[in-house]
Amino acid sequence: MQRILIATSNQGKLRDFAGAAAPHGIEIALLANYASLPEVKEDGDTFEANARKKAEHYSRHAAGEIVLADDSGLEVNALGGAPGVHSARYAAEQPHLLSNNTDDQANNARLLRELKKVPPENRAGRFVCVIAAARDGEILAVFRGQAEGMILDRPRGSNGFGYDPLFYSPRIKKTFAELTPEEKATYSHRGEAFRKFISWSIDQR
Ligand code: IMP
Repeated sequence: MQRILIATSNQGKLRDFAGAAAPHGIEIALLANYASLPEVKEDGDTFEANARKKAEHYSRHAAGEIVLADDSGLEVNALGGAPGVHSARYAAEQPHLLSNNTDDQANNARLLRELKKVPPENRAGRFVCVIAAARDGEILAVFRGQAEGMILDRPRGSNGFGYDPLFYSPRIKKTFAELTPEEKATYSHRGEAFRKFISWSIDQR
């Protein structure tokens, strides 16, 4: 079975990748020693810049192997594209409002606050995922996936991670937190970007 290395500390992303890889007979593995490696500063202005930075850096720690890094987030039209590249630390930008919630709960709470006065018809947004593939510090290719949806005014579903419970997909008529791993792989930004990676890797053989 082919094995692909992923550089991430996000268990939700790992589960999504495993779900997307399973139908292709590919096993997803976390980069060995990931937690003990020096961290990358995700200070790029775009998902692509951050994904490239992470893939370049972490692939230097897995000689000769292809390493994937994902940078992703939610863009909401009514918020001028926010939280965008700041999705993971959206609530942390307002430390005076932080409580004991997890990062995901606090981020979702901020999103709901920001959209409080925005009516349903103006709550469109999209998840974006950029995957960079690198080997020995060299970028080999970059893949982008996008999923359109709308932000609900209360969470629905208990699967997934991050903003999944607030993100309603009109294509499948569920929030991303109501999807099975197979459905998330089919309908999500990460699934789309990963399918592009699979096509590319087949072409490389
Ligand atoms: P980063 O790519 O590590 O900078 O963080 C991405 C952040 O975007 C996550 O922490 C989530 O808040 C959000 N995000 C990205 N993809 C998803 C997804 O598939 N579902 C829910 N939230 C996501």
